Amino acid sequence: MTDTKPPFLAFALPDIGEEEIAEVVDTLRSGWVTTGPKARRFEDDFARYLGEPGLQAIAVNSATAGLHLALEALGIGPGDEVIVPTHTFTATAEVVRYLGADVRLVDVDPVTLNIDPARVEAAITPRTKAFVPVHYAGLAADMPALLEIARRHGLKVVEDAAHALPSTSGGRLVGTLDSHATVFSFYANKTITTGEGGMLVTRDPALAARARVMRLHGISRDAFDRFTATVPSWYYEIVAPGFKYNLTDIAAALGLHQLRKADAFAARRAELVARYDAALADLPVLRPAHAPAGERHAWHLYVLRLADSVRLGRDQVIEALFAAGIGCSVHYIPLHLQPYWRDRYGLRPEQFPHSQRAYERMLSLPLHTRMSDADVDRVAAALRTALA
Ligand SMILES: Cc1ncc(COP(=O)(O)O)c(C=O)c1O
Repeated sequence: MTDTKPPFLAFALPDIGEEEIAEVVDTLRSGWVTTGPKARRFEDDFARYLGEPGLQAIAVNSATAGLHLALEALGIGPGDEVIVPTHTFTATAEVVRYLGADVRLVDVDPVTLNIDPARVEAAITPRTKAFVPVHYAGLAADMPALLEIARRHGLKVVEDAAHALPSTSGGRLVGTLDSHATVFSFYANKTITTGEGGMLVTRDPALAARARVMRLHGISRDAFDRFTATVPSWYYEIVAPGFKYNLTDIAAALGLHQLRKADAFAARRAELVARYDAALADLPVLRPAHAPAGERHAWHLYVLRLADSVRLGRDQVIEALFAAGIGCSVHYIPLHLQPYWRDRYGLRPEQFPHSQRAYERMLSLPLHTRMSDADVDRVAAALRTALA
């Protein structure tokens, strides 16, 4: 008997080509497998991709590392508060606690699910030093309003752009805006991937210098310099108790080619989104917010919300899709519901009505560049059956 069940459709998949594989093999054969010439080239290429002079790109082994380094370099420490949206992954907030500072969670806009500037302003106290907007799903947060609040209150801004390559705000790529730093993720499910990896981008030379030192043990010169500089190659100084956050050349080898494909990947994601939008138009679901006209949305995620008229619970819909061989996810279980954050700050769902409501009704459909148009149609058909 032949099995006619279609193959399982993964929620996310990396899109690794022969170019990446050849580059990794070249790295392995080169004898330089940790941070070296390819990590340096990846940084240069990344800064060039963003395309504005004066930007420095600092490769790290995760976005979490990049967020930690950026806040550390900005001097965030015990006694300080940093405002973070509740509707995010815990990495956005945990780095604040690494530094001994406190997190102030705020609710999001009910349409975009991005941090609500009015809530940021209302949450500012004398202890507030910074905030971290997340460009949720790849849609840029309201950066003009947020940067204006930062200017007015003298606050630092570090953008969590884990989802946002390539996204724009005001026609400018995220990464080139007027925040203090922006951090991208190249985790396996992101719009480009190095397996694990991230990039910290800033135009502040002091921040960049501090992040470069803290990225590798607080050593005053990185490993590449140390082994290739002329005199004296063995000498280094420890200027702080730094971290081990450097990106390997094996990972950077992937990144070099993934970056060249970033625009093509984004175009394909936009096509898949348009197909989902059309196929789901008559279903009782709220489709994800699009970017305003003329702006780019990176479409890391395609997040639906079930309409009130749908009697099924969100969990049941995910189970029905899973039974049809379709992987889904939820982005995110808000931080205010997570035991650590809830208990540390005594948080209640009523304080975050938009995030809470969205969470209860949301699911993320498969979205990746190895999907076919037929895969989108299959997901839409399965969803239609589930909701019927
Ligand atoms: C919004 C957000 N911030 C930060 C991160 C952390 O990224 P990384 O896994 O590269 O540390 C993620 C990863 O999923 C994320 O979704």
